[in-house]
Amino acid sequence: MAKSSTYTCSACGAAHKKWAGRCETCGEWNSITEEAALSAGPKGKTLGAAKGHRVELSELSSQDAPLVRSHFGIDELDRVLGGGLVPASAILVGGDPGIGKSTLLLQAAGAFARKGKKVLYVSGEEAASQIRMRAGRLNLTDAPVQLAAETNLRDILTTLDSERPDLVIIDSIQTMWADHVGSAPGSVSQVRAAAHELTSFAKRRGISVILVGHVTKDGQIAGPRVIEHMVDTVLYFEGERGHQFRILRAVKNRFGPADEIGVFEMTSGGLQQVVNPSALFLSERDKPTSGSVVFAGIEGTRPVLVEVQALVASSPLATPRRTVVGWDSGRLAMILAVLEARCGISFGGMDVYLNIAGGIKISEPAADLAVAAALISARQDHALPADSVVFGEISLSGALRPISQLENRLKEAEKLGFSSAYAPSRMKTIAKSDIDVHKVDDLEEFIENCFGRLDD
Ligand code: TYD
Ligand code: MG
Repeated sequence: MAKSSTYTCSACGAAHKKWAGRCETCGEWNSITEEAALSAGPKGKTLGAAKGHRVELSELSSQDAPLVRSHFGIDELDRVLGGGLVPASAILVGGDPGIGKSTLLLQAAGAFARKGKKVLYVSGEEAASQIRMRAGRLNLTDAPVQLAAETNLRDILTTLDSERPDLVIIDSIQTMWADHVGSAPGSVSQVRAAAHELTSFAKRRGISVILVGHVTKDGQIAGPRVIEHMVDTVLYFEGERGHQFRILRAVKNRFGPADEIGVFEMTSGGLQQVVNPSALFLSERDKPTSGSVVFAGIEGTRPVLVEVQALVASSPLATPRRTVVGWDSGRLAMILAVLEARCGISFGGMDVYLNIAGGIKISEPAADLAVAAALISARQDHALPADSVVFGEISLSGALRPISQLENRLKEAEKLGFSSAYAPSRMKTIAKSDIDVHKVDDLEEFIENCFGRLDD
C-alpha cells in the first residue's frame, strides 16, 4: 500500500505533503507532526464502515420528506437552531471554560428527554455523580436522560449503535480519545478524528449529535476551525464571567439563519431564558448620561436595543489608548478618522474607551452612528435625550447609509418607551409609528441636530 501519512500543523490544522520546520500557513515553528491518514489504517483499525460500497446517486429533483424538527421546549435554544433540532444534524457548541455550556446542555437534554425523546449525555470531564449533582440543582433529577462518563470513542460508538438515541451530547470533544489515532486527547488530530467519527456515525444512524468544544485563548475551538466545517451548526456561548447574561449565537447554520441569538441569565438554579433582552440590556440606564447612547440593533431575526457607552479622557501616553469591548476596534478607528476628517472633531491626545453594555457583541455596521454619537457625547460631555435611539451606517465620506429593518427597530424602541429616533434619511418612510424619526443625511447634520455647533 502506498504510504499515506499526512503532516498536520498542530497550531492551525493545515495539512502538508511533507514535513517542514515551519508551517507555511500560520508561520508557527515546530508545529508539524506526522499522522497516519484515517482511511489508510490497517484493516479493522478504522471505526467507520468497511470500504467499497457503491455510492447511491440521486437526482436534484428528487422529493425528500419534509424536515420535521423537534423542539427542546427552550424557546431561546430552539430559535437559535433555526426553529428546533433537525434530525441527524451535528451541532458544535463552543465557549470559554466555565461559561455554562454543560449547564445549558444538561438543561437541554433534560427538556428533550421529558418530551419522550431518548437522550444520551456523555461526559468526558465529569463523573456521573457530579452530573447528577448538577441535575439536582437544575431540578432535572426526574428527567430520563442516560448518563455516561466515558472518553473512549470506540466504546461510545458501540453504545450508540445499540442504544440508538435521538440525541447524543458529547461534553467535550477535546476529551474524546480515538484509539486509532496516535496522538493525545485534545490534539488537533484527535479532535478532528473524534468529531469526524461521531458526526458521520450519527448521520448514518439518524442520531443528532451535539459536541461541546472549549474555545482556546485566542477564541478558536481546539486548533483553529478543525471541526467547524464538519458540523451543520456552530453555536457560540458568549458572555462575561462577572455578568449573569449569556448569549448563545449561531455563527453557522445549515438549517436556519446565522447570527441568530438566544439570551439567557445564569442563576443559582441554572440558565433562565430572557424573553425581553432589550429590557435587560438597558436595565441599568436611568437618567441621561454623556457618552451613553441607545442603539436599536437587529440580532438575527429580532430587534435588540443595547446601550453603547463611550468614555474620552485626555491621555498621558504618546499613543493614546483605544479600548473596545463588544465591538470591532478597526471599525472604531474608522469612525474616529471620519469624525476627524469630515467633521473636524479630533480625538488626538485622548484615550478612547468604547463598551457595549451587558456583555453582548455587536457586528452590525448600523451601529456606526450610535458609536459616533456616544463618542461625541462623551467628548463634549453632552448627553443625548434619554428617550432616543440611534442607528445608521457611516460611509467614509461621512454620509449615512440606509440600513435594513427600519420598522422592526422602531417597533422595538417604541415598545420599550422610546419616543424619538435618529436614522439615515435615504430610507423608505414607514407606514405608522408613534416615534418621532429625525432623518439625517450625513454625520455633520446629525451632530448639528444633536449637539449644536461644536466650537473646536
Ligand atoms: P458549566 O456549565 O460547568 O460551564 P462549562 O461547561 O462551559 O465549562 O458552568 C459553570 C459555571 O456556572 C460555574 O461557575 C457555576 C455556574 N452555575 C450557576 O451559576 N448556576 C447553576 O445552576 C449551575 C449548574 C452552574
Ligand atoms: Mg463543562
